[in-house]
Amino acid sequence: MNQPQLTINNSNENLCEIIHQRISESPKKQITFAEYMDLVLYHPQHGYYATHPVNIGKQGDFLTSPHWSNDFGELLAEQFLQMWDIFQRPNNFTLVEMGAGKGILAEQILGYLQQTHLDFFQTIEYLIIEKSEVLKAEQKQRLNSYQVKWFEWDEISHNSITGCFFSNELVDAFSVHKFIIENEEIREIYVTSDSDGKFVEITDKISTPEIAEYFKLVDIDLLSFPNVEGYQSEVNLQALDWMKILSDKLLKGYVLTIDYGYQAARYYNPVRREGTLQCYYQHHRNNDPYWNIGRQDITAHVDFTALEKQGNLSGLETLGFTQQGLFLRRGLVQRNFFLFLSLKGEVLNLNFSVIWKAMESNIYRSFKK
Ligand SMILES: C[S@@+](CC[C@H](N)C(=O)[O-])C[C@H]1O[C@@H](n2cnc3c(N)ncnc32)[C@H](O)[C@@H]1O
Repeated sequence: MNQPQLTINNSNENLCEIIHQRISESPKKQITFAEYMDLVLYHPQHGYYATHPVNIGKQGDFLTSPHWSNDFGELLAEQFLQMWDIFQRPNNFTLVEMGAGKGILAEQILGYLQQTHLDFFQTIEYLIIEKSEVLKAEQKQRLNSYQVKWFEWDEISHNSITGCFFSNELVDAFSVHKFIIENEEIREIYVTSDSDGKFVEITDKISTPEIAEYFKLVDIDLLSFPNVEGYQSEVNLQALDWMKILSDKLLKGYVLTIDYGYQAARYYNPVRREGTLQCYYQHHRNNDPYWNIGRQDITAHVDFTALEKQGNLSGLETLGFTQQGLFLRRGLVQRNFFLFLSLKGEVLNLNFSVIWKAMESNIYRSFKK
């Protein structure tokens, strides 16, 4: 990706004012980076996700998988169908999409099931939980021909869902705490205002013991890293709370989440000394969350070990973990293989790897276009 033009800073002044005020009202004149990121992205009037009708997509700042191709939603739909089959096709099966963006994935899933698996389509209840009011309005418009319902988190009661909670690029949009190792101690990175009215980072004691507990959970001993002084990264505590909430609401079924990220040992690695935080503005990536405030997206990669461990503690069983590319490739191969067989109307003695190769280029076409 090209380097961004960081010279034109068009921060949202109203949002900056609100953040400065939040800082000045806090006892130590500093807020955690997580608080800062939450305001920048989700302040209900001025946050990035509140003010940008076209932030996802070709005209926006970044593209997500459903924006590349219908295959993504269609293969997920096949996956949900398989879950329904495993449960022996119950009369109630709920799909809960969390953080649905522009509603494109929902449209792909519902459109495909309506065309190809009407029995399942007529069974499912499709719910969306969406934090951004602007995106929620766009979803409602896009999906007005389907029976979709919108819920807030606390409107879904304990043990009420049989089906699947799923998300694409939700967890990397949660706000994260930033930390640095100083004098052999984990210290938190806070945001404060300097005398010129700019936001600057300072370090202090961690704001919550949950940050230290997190590393016990994922079994990472940061202080054993070579040359650890100055090592920085992020901790996504919201992701742990999220797993607890899902487990509480799920009576029977699955949680499926797709995101950028790694297992903990790769995430917290001595060579990745600056963490994984990234910002996106008009398809350019940069690593300055204090630039173009409220006009660019901020994300941090997901530590899948943390999701797995917290899920297990909360009563979920880990079924699997794979790369998105492999999931899609396998799904496309399977789907096109059956399509090919039915077109030919006979059982063919085909070399699987040949189909695999052919399908691979197919995928590249659909995904790299
Ligand atoms: C990076 S976008 C991904 C959108 C969509 N899933 C896609 O693939 O295009 C993140 C989405 O999660 C939503 N979101 C973030 N935090 C949320 C939360 N706590 N609850 C519900 N939605 C949330 C955002 O408003 C946005 O719709």
